[in-house]
Amino acid sequence: MSLSVTNLLSIKDLTNDDINLVLDTAKYFEEISKRAIKKVPTLRGKTIVNLFLEPSTRTRISFELAAKRLSADVVNISSDSSAIKKGESLKDTAKTLTAMGIDIIVMRHSFAGSSELLAKWTDARIINAGDGAHEHPTQALLDLYTVREKLKKIENLHIGIVGDVAHSRVARSNIFAFKKMGAKISVIAPPTLVPPEFESLGVNIRYNFDEVIPEIDVIYLLRLQLERQTESFFPSIGEYARLFCLNKERLKMAKENVVIMHPGPINRDIEISGDITEMPESIITQQVASGIAVRMAVLYLLAGGGLVSGAVD
Ligand code: NCD
Repeated sequence: MSLSVTNLLSIKDLTNDDINLVLDTAKYFEEISKRAIKKVPTLRGKTIVNLFLEPSTRTRISFELAAKRLSADVVNISSDSSAIKKGESLKDTAKTLTAMGIDIIVMRHSFAGSSELLAKWTDARIINAGDGAHEHPTQALLDLYTVREKLKKIENLHIGIVGDVAHSRVARSNIFAFKKMGAKISVIAPPTLVPPEFESLGVNIRYNFDEVIPEIDVIYLLRLQLERQTESFFPSIGEYARLFCLNKERLKMAKENVVIMHPGPINRDIEISGDITEMPESIITQQVASGIAVRMAVLYLLAGGGLVSGAVD
């Protein structure tokens, strides 16, 4: 079995079989990160470029560790240190990397649709690591994986995605991913942060967090994307926090077995109060850990890997 796609640009392109293949493969790879020597030779001889043209800590490091644990050669490029700073176009960067025989390019870019363009200009496999407010498919895959590990299912769960839905690529990818896998989704935000068009994606829009909290199985908090907000979407940060910050008082209204997620980076006491991140309901650190296994799976499968037997010895 192998993936039906050659690039990972959008969750929309994946079939349910593709998603299950990634999650099942990740399960094999997860064990490698627990070994004393966290490395297998699976991608030896492959070259992977991390082209990160927007700030990132966890996603870039996660991809780098995933590639290194599979023994690939990894090159990191950022906008500060590349010819892009000298005005080179993305197309010319793509041509240069193609001429160097790169196998996989992992790209983060502020322009929605950039990874799709890049895929047209190179033979290398492309992984979208976040393109503007469009999509962030590996984040959604690692979120599916983390929920499946914790709650042993995805189907019929009620996922509440809370906060800055309008500017969030994580929200969009997660909506597509969790819906495909049979979950029910509510997006919960002030009206200015969730355009009514989201209803056409098959989600319920809810404006009152307190009202919906008792109904949801997974509280998925989003970061306020202050860098993408060009106008004021609520009276003040304090007002936002008063209505949407997950604090201990609000958590009391939640289901007993609720789990709490956040893609990071967190704005403490705006989206979630600091004490809650340490509680057993929070699976935020599991998301980070799962991220490496899921990205190992994606790199392996896009590099042409299929059934995992033999890949992890
Ligand atoms: C997200 C991103 O960059 O889209 N972070 C991440 O990849 N873990 C979410 C965010 O920045 O809010």
